[in-house]
Amino acid sequence: MHHGDKILVKVWDQPTRLFHWALVILVAVLWASGELGNLDIHMKLGVWALALLLFRLGWGVVGSPTARFTHFVRGPAAIADYLRAARTGAVRSVGHNPLGALSVLALLGLLIAQSVSGLFTTDDIFTNGPLVHLVPSKTSALLSSLHRLGGKLVLALVALHLAAVAFYTLIKKDDLIRAMITGTKRVPKGVEGVRFAHPLIALALFALACAVVWGGLALAGR
Ligand code: HEM
Repeated sequence: MHHGDKILVKVWDQPTRLFHWALVILVAVLWASGELGNLDIHMKLGVWALALLLFRLGWGVVGSPTARFTHFVRGPAAIADYLRAARTGAVRSVGHNPLGALSVLALLGLLIAQSVSGLFTTDDIFTNGPLVHLVPSKTSALLSSLHRLGGKLVLALVALHLAAVAFYTLIKKDDLIRAMITGTKRVPKGVEGVRFAHPLIALALFALACAVVWGGLALAGR
């Protein structure tokens, strides 16, 4: 198909794109600092990751259509349908496809578990997560093990995610990376873009997420 048959439509709003790339940077630095034992910076950035993830949960409810969980969380039947249709190469809608949505959910779920368990993680030498004192030492030992295991899982899921994106970009010629940077995508005529939610709602939501995280830590921490 040549360019004449295609139009440019809106796919990802600014808050979703900013969230995505901020998370990419945070996770890279979190992984490295965790492995290197650079725990001061690790814990500071881990709390930022928590605030960012909390924002994303809210944006998945009140954000633009393509960012909403109700838009992209689909059952096994929809996934099977998608796989059958995908063989013909037809793009029928914008946003996450039903299979890619699974990877989004897995990554968000794991990173939330990772940033929450981190609060209760101890290295048993000098460094305690800010909420370690709230739980029995057995519990923090368990959560610390889960946190270390989670670190390995993050690596595996990120690798899978990158492999999938490479497949779509190189083999299916669907430029997902450009869409996540510019927010727009070239699609066949007839495929509709979406109307974005107001960015000020995102700003308010992010402020709320920060208030919950740092407010909560101030109340529960010591
Ligand atoms: C998405 C967020 C996070 C990711 C991806 C992440 C990842 C990691 C990784 C890969 C390690 C190294 C594990 C190992 O040594 O095998 C680690 C260790 C650690 N993390 Fe996180 N972390 C996150 C959030 C947090 C948060 C929010 C805190 C606390 C505020 C935290 C506290 C710690 C501590 C104390 C260790 C040292 C554990 C040890 O040496 O035994 N992390 N993290």
